[in-house]
Amino acid sequence: MNAPEETRVPDGAALDGATVVVVGGSGGVGEGVVRSLLAAGAVVVATGRDEGRLAGLAARRATEGLPGTLHTRVLDAMAPSLDADVGELAREFGAFDGVVVAVASWGDQGRKPALALDDREWQDLLDGNLTSVFRLFRAFLPRTAPTGVVLQLNGMSADIPFPGSAGVALSAAATKSLTLTLAAELGGRGPRVVQLVLGVVRTRARQQAGIDDVRWIDATQIGDHVVDLVAGVGPLADTPLQYFTDRSEGPRPGPAFR
Ligand SMILES: NC(=O)c1ccc[n+]([C@@H]2O[C@H](COP(=O)([O-])OP(=O)(O)OC[C@H]3O[C@@H](n4cnc5c(N)ncnc54)[C@H](OP(=O)(O)O)[C@@H]3O)[C@@H](O)[C@H]2O)c1
Repeated sequence: MNAPEETRVPDGAALDGATVVVVGGSGGVGEGVVRSLLAAGAVVVATGRDEGRLAGLAARRATEGLPGTLHTRVLDAMAPSLDADVGELAREFGAFDGVVVAVASWGDQGRKPALALDDREWQDLLDGNLTSVFRLFRAFLPRTAPTGVVLQLNGMSADIPFPGSAGVALSAAATKSLTLTLAAELGGRGPRVVQLVLGVVRTRARQQAGIDDVRWIDATQIGDHVVDLVAGVGPLADTPLQYFTDRSEGPRPGPAFR
């Protein structure tokens, strides 16, 4: 059984020198993705809003001797300057070979029945989980290499009811729709656009809080799949809708829509 801090083949070959941005790289799932990308030799730009969280990520990676290179940058998807900020990243790092959108915002309202949300809570949840993703696609897609991939990580609430977390769930459904719409609009011209729906993930933060289950998917297993997608290898390299909800089954294609 893999521990969350382990990765598959840390040989540095698969993504040698490729540049991959992980938006939300300081988050629970993002950290596992960052680690796998570094193990594959990528130049990784991990972003988040909180400098302290980014510094923690950098400190944990610094001692591991992984072949890739980690840069951390503060980036707020809701900042008016987002487009300029992403333009700055593109000037610094060149066209991106991969962009992973791994943002989540649970809000401060806690679990609440849908109709108990007040207007501010509703708007904050939509801003944090839907508008943020739209703005990130709009800023990053044009700056991604035509051979690259823009990937949104999502949860199963994109497909199924999620009582007590309506704002998060309906945003998940909407960002799934948005991602698939973008993939269809591009129609194979330009970067690949991928929606990856995940089951429950074992993250470092969850384990530290004593919340763990060996049946959950390791964040680095997701990262290893992301490495394949950025490298453009494997049976799902060109599949817009994919699921990784069962750790023993691994990633699988979603239904195709024609
Ligand atoms: N954890 C799971 O079990 C699970 C299961 C299925 C799917 N997922 C998906 O995985 C993704 C990440 O979830 P997670 O559990 O890793 O969440 P998380 O630990 O809360 O991390 C969220 C990340 O997103 C960043 N972020 C949030 N709002 C942002 C904004 N407006 N602009 C820029 N960055 C922002 C956070 O940075 P700051 O902390 O600095 O704000 C943090 O780096 C989500 O799409 C979620 O649906 C997670």
